[in-house]
Amino acid sequence: MICDKSKLSVLNLNVHYLEGPGRVIKAVNSVSFEIMGGESIGIAGESASGKSTLGSAIMRNLEPNARIIGGSIFLDNIDIVNLADTDFDREIRWKKIAMIFQGAMNTLDPVFPIGEQMQEILRSHGVEGSLQNRTLASLDDVGLDRSVAKMYPHELSGGMKQRVVIAMSLLLDPDILIADEPTTALDVLVQAQIIKLLKSVKIKRGISIIIISHDLGVISEIADKVAIMYSGEIVELANSQDIFSNPKHPYTQLLISSVPKLDSKGTIVSLKGQPPDSANLPEGCYFLSRCPFAMEMCRKKPSPLNTASGFVLCWLYE
Ligand SMILES: Nc1ncnc2c1ncn2[C@@H]1O[C@H](COP(=O)(O)OP(=O)(O)O)[C@@H](O)[C@H]1O
Ligand SMILES: [Mg+2]
Repeated sequence: MICDKSKLSVLNLNVHYLEGPGRVIKAVNSVSFEIMGGESIGIAGESASGKSTLGSAIMRNLEPNARIIGGSIFLDNIDIVNLADTDFDREIRWKKIAMIFQGAMNTLDPVFPIGEQMQEILRSHGVEGSLQNRTLASLDDVGLDRSVAKMYPHELSGGMKQRVVIAMSLLLDPDILIADEPTTALDVLVQAQIIKLLKSVKIKRGISIIIISHDLGVISEIADKVAIMYSGEIVELANSQDIFSNPKHPYTQLLISSVPKLDSKGTIVSLKGQPPDSANLPEGCYFLSRCPFAMEMCRKKPSPLNTASGFVLCWLYE
């Protein structure tokens, strides 16, 4: 497939959070993956596995206490880790890479009508011409009635707000859209509609979607390939078909086979035990304490082993 969209290569990326004296949270550890123009990837894994940090690092939107302490993020041939803020803002943010942040639909400005908020995004990026026409067309694109332009966030349902957020993210026609938990706060029927919308966006515009979700079902609908994260590492990367039909890493196998259950606090738990403290990661395999196949060897750190369509980080396949 020949495609004019940008290619993204993340190479050996490490992101830490500095959390008080001497306490360093290792949120993203040696992460590498690549997507060709128009190719979509799913990032899956339990809560706190580093998914949002990875997305925010690519969008250059990390919290002030976060540090990229190693690695590169190439957009085509440019390492955006080393790009000056002004250059990133002018050339890349929203134009090449856009992001729907986790919970974004709750951060719409309550005092301005939707249409004005959308026009402001265009204006702030130097777009000229009929901003109103462009805004209305983008409401059409996400299946919203044009009357929404005059409405305020509190007049919209959750699903409508999420469509607005998607429309905003697409206003400057990005090559890559990072969608962080885009369906999480929505009820099941609306979730299905939002997934359908993202799928059609991907097909119609030919853009890459990086879909971040703790829900493999959501990912299976959109992603061409899947990265499974555990304690900030990608423990398995493969094309979607291989991940679901032939999962290799014991963690991937458990994620796929486990039927989500609710615990006493009402949060979804699908696996027993806890991942290690990310301020105090063990020397060997991070999954060791929860792994049904743990061996003596696993006290040593595994290195990525190539598979049919990606890699697995596990001694079982050595
Ligand atoms: N601003 C922050 N300061 C310190 N630690 C953070 C901060 N944001 C996230 N973390 C920690 O980084 C790790 C990864 O978090 P996150 O990227 O949000 O994971 P996920 O999106 O997979 O739930 C977690 O241990 C989380 O507690
Ligand atoms: Mg997150």
